[in-house]
Amino acid sequence: MAENQSSPSGPDLTAGIALSELAGGKLLGHVGDAQVLLVQSGPDYFAIDAYCSHYHGPLADGLVVGDGIRCPWHHACFNLRNGEATRAPAINSLATWKVEQRGGRLFVSRKNETQKSTRRSKSPAPENVVIVGAGAAGFAAAEMLRRKDFGGRIVMLSSDISPPVDRPNLSKDYLAGTSPEDWVPLKPDNFYGEAKIDLRLNADVESIDTKARQVVVKGGANVAYDRLLLTTGAEPVRLPIPGAEQQNVHTLRSLDDSRAIIAMTKGAQRAVVIGASFIGLETAAALRTRGLEVHVVAPEKRPMERILGAQMGDFVRNLHEEHGVVFHLEDTVVAIADKQLTLKSGGLLTADFVIVGVGVRPRLALAEKAGLKLDRGVVVDEFLETSVPGIFAAGDIARWPDPHSKASIRVEHWVVAERQGQTAALNILGEGQPFDAVPFFWSQHYDVPINYVGHAEQWDDIEIEGDIAARDCLLRYRHKGRVLAVASIFRDLANLEAELQMERDRGA
Ligand SMILES: Cc1cc2nc3c(=O)[nH]c(=O)nc-3n(C[C@H](O)[C@H](O)[C@H](O)COP(=O)(O)OP(=O)(O)OC[C@H]3O[C@@H](n4cnc5c(N)ncnc54)[C@H](O)[C@@H]3O)c2cc1C
Ligand code: FES
Repeated sequence: MAENQSSPSGPDLTAGIALSELAGGKLLGHVGDAQVLLVQSGPDYFAIDAYCSHYHGPLADGLVVGDGIRCPWHHACFNLRNGEATRAPAINSLATWKVEQRGGRLFVSRKNETQKSTRRSKSPAPENVVIVGAGAAGFAAAEMLRRKDFGGRIVMLSSDISPPVDRPNLSKDYLAGTSPEDWVPLKPDNFYGEAKIDLRLNADVESIDTKARQVVVKGGANVAYDRLLLTTGAEPVRLPIPGAEQQNVHTLRSLDDSRAIIAMTKGAQRAVVIGASFIGLETAAALRTRGLEVHVVAPEKRPMERILGAQMGDFVRNLHEEHGVVFHLEDTVVAIADKQLTLKSGGLLTADFVIVGVGVRPRLALAEKAGLKLDRGVVVDEFLETSVPGIFAAGDIARWPDPHSKASIRVEHWVVAERQGQTAALNILGEGQPFDAVPFFWSQHYDVPINYVGHAEQWDDIEIEGDIAARDCLLRYRHKGRVLAVASIFRDLANLEAELQMERDRGA
């Protein structure tokens, strides 16, 4: 993401500041042109780049936990000692500076040398790692393997035609036309060659030979593995209605899908979005930003009520209506004929094009064919290993034992997929790390972000702190007295604190 090009603010940290100025434990200053955050954690002082390497979130508003700092926007974490991005969604590390204490003052001097992180396991690393899928989980796994100095072969096979992309952006700024396409790739194209990650695009894996330990690629050579990671993600559900296969009816998963929708907006006046899901409504917001008339048709009474509850559902509906979206709720589309849509209620709508956002289905065919244990997803243990030793699964397909909700869950969240990819990579290297991150997702509608931490499939009550309509709120979803999840709008620090509390409550 691009950085703001304004002149640096705050004191010149090389000139020193009084210890007393570090009230609250953080102080934003600069070293030359670089914005630097001075941080106190216990007896230690640290200096680190002030903005997150994901989307430039202000770490001054983040949470310091031990020797890490967590970003307020999407909960990435950076090690204050060496700047390493220890938790996704940030992947790139930040610079850190040397801090000296002299005569009751703190001075930030030179930049620290980048430190290479290495693997901790003493067990021999595998020679051949094959990753099926190059989305959030697959990409994060490959990157983590190389970050840990894994010297073996990595082959990443993807049925996509584009290298790994920032998928959440495809329904947000990129689709709205407010961010350029060069923000979409997760890494520049030359990264894969330089990191010796053999990324093969347009490579559809048809089956896995678990005995011979190789994957069978459609129309290509078989690829042998010592360890295999499956990250095949999910695919949009298609509507079984007449007209659903028309050229002007789209789903949204890949960069190509997003490009195709953008192409449809040229000269178009009206779009219909079927489904009031996160992706459906983010798409509606993006199309409104492009000036199109947008109608949303969905069977539920309130958008997002199942995930966020009635009060937040009403807010989301009002927010979109304020921006001119027209809802047709408790209704469905039963047929599409050219530009005309017939609703179950008997109504008719016209649209230049249609977006279908009615949910996704995990891509399980490969795992099923290989005989891996399934249960509405690929069943993995706490180390993300499937029922077949040596084969791991991560991301939208994985159902894992979540220590927080104490249930086996499968979610469709970007940050969870990336973190699972990273944990799977460590376990492929023999580090034996359980996956215990608290699930987190965010969604963006116009200028309103919704952050959600935890996992609540049902709740007895929702405690609302603040004012949802004023866009300043925190909702606690309680089941049998336990807070299972927290959603917030513009209460980022409280959301981070809720995440920390859930980590501390684990096992309670
Ligand atoms: C438009 C959009 C916006 C989103 N916004 C958000 C958001 O704001 N916040 C959030 O938390 N989540 C969001 N999500 C969800 C998030 O993107 C997913 O949870 C995440 O991408 C899952 O990662 P994954 O690695 O499991 O799968 P994916 O990222 O889908 O990657 C799957 C990969 O597997 C490949 N593949 C599949 N089958 C095969 C095969 N047989 N052979 C070879 N390759 C194969 C695919 O080509 C792809 O490369 C969004 C999703 C979409 C589509
Ligand atoms: S901006 Fe920091 S995690 Fe997204």
